[in-house]
Amino acid sequence: MINRLSIRWRILIIFILIACVGGLVQFVIAGRQLEATTLEFYKHHLETDALLVATTFAEPLGHFLEGEGEEGVGRMISTFQQEVGHDYLIVDSSYRVVAATTNTDYVPGARAALTPELSMALSQRIGSDIRPNHAGDDTLHLAVSVQYEGDPLGFVVLSEPMQPAYAEINRRYAELASATIPVLALVIAASMWVYGTISQPMRHLRNSALQMAKGMFDTRIRVQSQDELGQLAQAFNYMAGQIEALMKTQRSFVSNAAHELRTPLMTLKLRAEALADVTLPAAERVTYLSEIRQEIDHMAELVSSLLILARIDEGRQPQISVNGDMVSSLHDIARHWRIEAEAKGLTFNAQFDPKLPPELPVSPNDLRLMLDNLLSNAVKYTTQGSVDMRIASAKDTVLFEVQDTGIGFSPEMAANLFERFFRAEEVRGRFIGNGLGLSIVKAILDFYGGRITGESKGIGKGALFKIVIDLQQASIAHRPVTP
Ligand SMILES: Nc1ncnc2c1ncn2[C@@H]1O[C@H](COP(=O)(O)OP(=O)(O)OP(=O)(O)O)[C@@H](O)[C@H]1O
Ligand SMILES: [Mg+2]
Repeated sequence: MINRLSIRWRILIIFILIACVGGLVQFVIAGRQLEATTLEFYKHHLETDALLVATTFAEPLGHFLEGEGEEGVGRMISTFQQEVGHDYLIVDSSYRVVAATTNTDYVPGARAALTPELSMALSQRIGSDIRPNHAGDDTLHLAVSVQYEGDPLGFVVLSEPMQPAYAEINRRYAELASATIPVLALVIAASMWVYGTISQPMRHLRNSALQMAKGMFDTRIRVQSQDELGQLAQAFNYMAGQIEALMKTQRSFVSNAAHELRTPLMTLKLRAEALADVTLPAAERVTYLSEIRQEIDHMAELVSSLLILARIDEGRQPQISVNGDMVSSLHDIARHWRIEAEAKGLTFNAQFDPKLPPELPVSPNDLRLMLDNLLSNAVKYTTQGSVDMRIASAKDTVLFEVQDTGIGFSPEMAANLFERFFRAEEVRGRFIGNGLGLSIVKAILDFYGGRITGESKGIGKGALFKIVIDLQQASIAHRPVTP
């Protein structure tokens, strides 16, 4: 249910709930204190009145009890009631009514009931009690003992309805409640603000994601904060950048591949058209057929390089044969390239470290593919001199080196050699190739966590390619996912 609510409502509900619960607790605590204070104040005010009356009546009551001034007390009490407004009852020490105002239901001479306030006043000088009167309205009764020259003469009981005190309490409660309205408005405004700070970047993120889905890979989000949302925007921008770069590479890869295929296809077409001419001399016919064969070989090589790259790009695991004898496989490779090099009149040297581990955590196929590419380049791009192949092993690494005395390359080209379809100006038109060999080596090494570097002192000064394979990293790379 809560998951169906929008974040805006969730924040609003949580904020209001917290405000309401907090406000209610405060309201109850403050209300109780307010109520107690108001009642105390009301009672205290009446107590002062009752004490004043008790002091005022001490002497007249003393005279009255001695049989003098019978009328005096009754008159005085009526005057008090008219001026101050409370109801009074005056009793002697045996609770016989001496005088009473009209609302007390007592008449002089009657015996007053021993009410809680009277019994309290007997021991503590002053006593109070709240109870409903005959009409059912709560009334406060305050009894104060009257003393004259140290002798207790009786009690003055003051009665006053609680209604004004209750009205005051209700008024204060209303005041307290009205103070919560601005707090609630503040809470709603704060929740809206919090939502705003979250919703705006989220809307941007959503719109940008949708734009990317439509193919606008240059979409980026403006990072406005360093908080979690800012970090999310940064992560999104990073992802967008990576996708954009990947798409660019893919597109240029496809167009390069198409371009590379078009040239041999054009040659094939021209040669096929020429061969269709029946008057073509036999010698030319042979030349054209050999050219056609060469172009077909070139295309076959290109297609197989593309397939290898596609396999690596798809992240397919290379087949690993752990039992393959690596050293003899390396000797095979060396033997093959010695023949190729010597056929071109080059010297070929191979040096194998005797401490080479018997097995490498690299598929023999991949190892062969990498070395074949480096050695084929060395033989292809060297017209005279030598090709050297060296394999050395250290504690955790194996180093493969292929060095030649060939055409070399300008040092600033070194980083570009591993890009797909890159071929140096000097080799175009002079040597056959697709510019994919080194990128295949690089892609394989990326999989195994290995590194390749190419160095040359300049054009015509030979080249040196080094591959370093970290044994530990390479074994992590092809650890089987399932046992
Ligand atoms: N040993 C080398 N000496 C000089 N230049 C080299 C050498 N190896 C590579 N290069 C340069 O690097 C470029 C890329 O080499 P890469 O092996 O990727 O492609 P290629 O040899 O041109 O074609 P292929 O796809 O058939 O291997 C070459 O075209 C060449 O310019
Ligand atoms: Mg090559």
